[in-house]
Amino acid sequence: MASVLLLSGSPTENSRTTAVLGLVAERLRAAAHSPHVLRIRDIPPADLLGARTGEPAVAATVEAVRTADALVVGTPIYKAAYSGLLKAFLDLLPEKALAGKPVLPLATGGTLAHLLAVDYALRPVLSALRAPHVLPGFFVLDRTVHIGGTGRADLDADTERGLAAAVDAFTAVVPARASLARAS
Ligand SMILES: Cc1cc2nc3c(=O)[nH]c(=O)nc-3n(C[C@H](O)[C@H](O)[C@H](O)COP(=O)(O)O)c2cc1C
Repeated sequence: MASVLLLSGSPTENSRTTAVLGLVAERLRAAAHSPHVLRIRDIPPADLLGARTGEPAVAATVEAVRTADALVVGTPIYKAAYSGLLKAFLDLLPEKALAGKPVLPLATGGTLAHLLAVDYALRPVLSALRAPHVLPGFFVLDRTVHIGGTGRADLDADTERGLAAAVDAFTAVVPARASLARAS
């Protein structure tokens, strides 16, 4: 069993990105992993933007990254890139924060024109943080995500199939990486 941190970079309360991460967490749990969803929006803004790494919420989130075996990094696409909220947090991580951790990047967006934003914008940042294995990014069209009263998302069938395949490809590399990290 691996500890998987799912980070949401959406600033919105009823976020499609966070809801999709919730579905990813369900699938990871079904695969006997231990997922944990964190929203960067829950860090007090002054601490995040002031780079106050000693403050509890910032320190706890950085520590959650440090102790995770693997990560799913989720973001809405804003202006053809990942969110500024996500970048504000990633900028606070130590240089090699993702060393040894496979990462699944996931984005929700309004247009397929920005399908590749995860790969051209987010992937280089994850690599700079030394993630050894960044899986192909998965892009979810926002209109295929339907959030119900409970906050749980329902996905259109094609999106559901694609997401399941992306998570399964991720879980295929997580156990090996987790045991490697424990062995070192
Ligand atoms: C300020 C703003 C900028 C956006 N820019 C883009 C964009 O450049 N490309 C795109 O595909 N979607 C864009 N969108 C749509 C969002 O990415 C999409 O609705 C996403 O699912 C929102 O995620 P959230 O509910 O987690 O916040 C934008 C939305 C907002 C509010």
